[in-house]
Order: sequence, then structure tokens, then C-alpha cells
Amino acid sequence: MNGDISLEIMGPIFTAVSGDVSLALKVLELKPEAIVLDVGTGAAQCALSLALQGVDVVTGEPATDTSIYAGKDWYDKAKRLGVAERITFQPFAAHDMPFPERSFDAVFFFGVLHHIDEVQRQAVFHEAFRVIKPGGPMVFFEPKAKTLEVVRRSDPGHPDAANPEEYTQGFGTRVDKITGQMMHISIFRNIA
Ligand SMILES: C[S@@+](CC[C@H](N)C(=O)[O-])C[C@H]1O[C@@H](n2cnc3c(N)ncnc32)[C@H](O)[C@@H]1O
Repeated sequence: MNGDISLEIMGPIFTAVSGDVSLALKVLELKPEAIVLDVGTGAAQCALSLALQGVDVVTGEPATDTSIYAGKDWYDKAKRLGVAERITFQPFAAHDMPFPERSFDAVFFFGVLHHIDEVQRQAVFHEAFRVIKPGGPMVFFEPKAKTLEVVRRSDPGHPDAANPEEYTQGFGTRVDKITGQMMHISIFRNIA
């Protein structure tokens, strides 16, 4: 897919999103038939970026979410970009996922953890580790300070970034960190 076309369809921020997603994919080295769970669909910037980079994606968000970040009309963009068949949408809440154990090669949270109630975040880690294949990566993208500053111009009440490491106690994880253009990226693997 021509980069200019995806930019035209997705808007200027998509270049930075895709760059950050690509940084993570380079570290993960997923196999070609890998399926990634993308938690928190939103505008599907992450899901579309993954799909455009050749990854099959299952994505979802709570059906009950009435915030400005949910229920976005992204499917038409997926069709125009030619990747609709790579993306499956299913509504779900991250602390109670409707998937069997070991369903996914990786689980991505792009700009999502800080939108999840703090009391649910540890349960979210449990669920994500349950649905990932053994040793598979869980990848959190949380906004850098400059990114938050930009987001708050249109959404002044936007929550602070979350620190995923606060919720990993007792999991036996290894974490690798990357600084992206717009996000801090933390890659967790269960080594217990
Ligand atoms: C800012 S959007 C994320 C951006 C999106 N990942 C993208 O690439 O465009 C925040 C998302 O988190 C989702 N969300 C909030 N609470 C959630 C929860 N408990 N479980 C799953 N998703 C949740 C919202 O519904 C929304 O889709």
C-alpha cells in the first residue's frame, strides 16, 4: 500500500503510529501466520497499522464504552486500505476476555492502559497472559509527555499515562523498553 494513500485516509498522526508499531514488530519478529490481539480498538490506528504491515489482527473494546475514543467508524478505512479481511472485530472488556487460553501470538495495548480503571489493571495483565501463547509478548504503548500535551489540546481531561510495570507484581516477567516517536513501548514476556 502506497504510504501517501494511507496518510490521506488515516491522517497525519498515522505515520508516527505506524513508526512506533513497526519498532515493536522489529523486536518481536513474529512468524508470518501470527495473530495479534489489539486491545482497545479506538480509531483502529494500531490495528490498521498492524494489518498494513502484514499482521492478522483481532481487535475489540467494550460495547458499553460511550467515550469519544470508542465506537469509531474505522471499517470503511480498512476496506479502502485493502486490509479489512485481516482485521476481525469483537467487543470485549480487557479484564474479562472472551477468548480461550493461548489464542494469540502477541497482545497489543496502544494508548489503552491509561483508559482502563486502575482497579482492573492487574486483572487485565492476568487476562492478557492467559490468552497469549507461552512466552508470547504483551506490548504496551503509553504516551510520551509531548504526545499527551498534544492530545490534551482537544481533550483537556485526558488521563495521565500509565506505567505498566506497576501492575506486573507476582507475574515473573521480563520487560524490554523502547522509546518510540510518540509512545513509550514496554514489551513484557512471562518467564515464570
Ligand atoms: C484512545 S483509544 C486507543 C487507541 C487505539 N488503540 C488506536 O490504535 O486507535 C482507547 C481505547 O481503549 C478502550 N478501552 C477502555 N477501557 C477498556 C477496557 N476495560 N477494555 C478494553 N478496552 C478498553 C476504549 O474503548 C478505546 O477503544
